[in-house]
Amino acid sequence: MKVNWESHDDAESAARAAGRHIADLLKVVEGPVATLAVSGGSATKHMFQELAAANLDWSKVHVFWVDERPVPPDHADSNFKLANQYLLQPAGIPADNVHRIKAELPTEEAAEQYQDEIRRFFRLGDNELPRFDVVHLGMGGDGHTASLFPGETLIKDRDHIAASVYVDKMQQARITLLPAVLLRAKNPVMLVTQEDKAPMLQRVFSEPYQPEKFPAQLIAYEAPETFWYLDNGAARLLRPEE
Ligand code: 6PG
Repeated sequence: MKVNWESHDDAESAARAAGRHIADLLKVVEGPVATLAVSGGSATKHMFQELAAANLDWSKVHVFWVDERPVPPDHADSNFKLANQYLLQPAGIPADNVHRIKAELPTEEAAEQYQDEIRRFFRLGDNELPRFDVVHLGMGGDGHTASLFPGETLIKDRDHIAASVYVDKMQQARITLLPAVLLRAKNPVMLVTQEDKAPMLQRVFSEPYQPEKFPAQLIAYEAPETFWYLDNGAARLLRPEE
């Protein structure tokens, strides 16, 4: 299985390269609206900084989230807070273009409200799914992506938009987009950094397809046209031809 990846000297360089790639993708979206869904992650700040500095028409870009922790928008753990500080504010993205997951609510309710907002925005009929222009995803050392962690039964779901999922290792519920939406993205962009990810990344790219064990294989196997931005630490066990 062939995965498109490139490796950079450090996490910041990989993140900035991913930010430039996302900017290039957004620039060529035809029509009045471009849709971007973003994740959290330790290197994502640099991706946002690069993206915010790009010369593009932010008035057409609508920002959504791939997942969110069960915290208010000003909490240190909030993926919204991260994006707001390094992308939304610096780029001057209009408030009407920001589709925040209201994770200060009970997570089931937040997931329902987020699904309704997505349905309204994309003008979806029953059982229809959104197609984002760009979706940014990370990968944890356990192989999770979005908030789909190993063993999550919703990894099999191909019908729904978003859900509240309980994450045992975090002892918390989170709200996350579900696989069908991630796999319908026109342009998924993976950003994976840090040396501790190397063993898992090598397994994600080489083990037979077992997404409940290796959730990031959802993207590697089912969205092979994705571009993976890595730092040398995360890529150290990959062979160039992989
Ligand atoms: C989150 C993210 C999550 C993240 C990975 C990688 O809410 O934490 O959406 O999926 O992208 O955990 O994060 P790191 O790069 O910090 O390991």
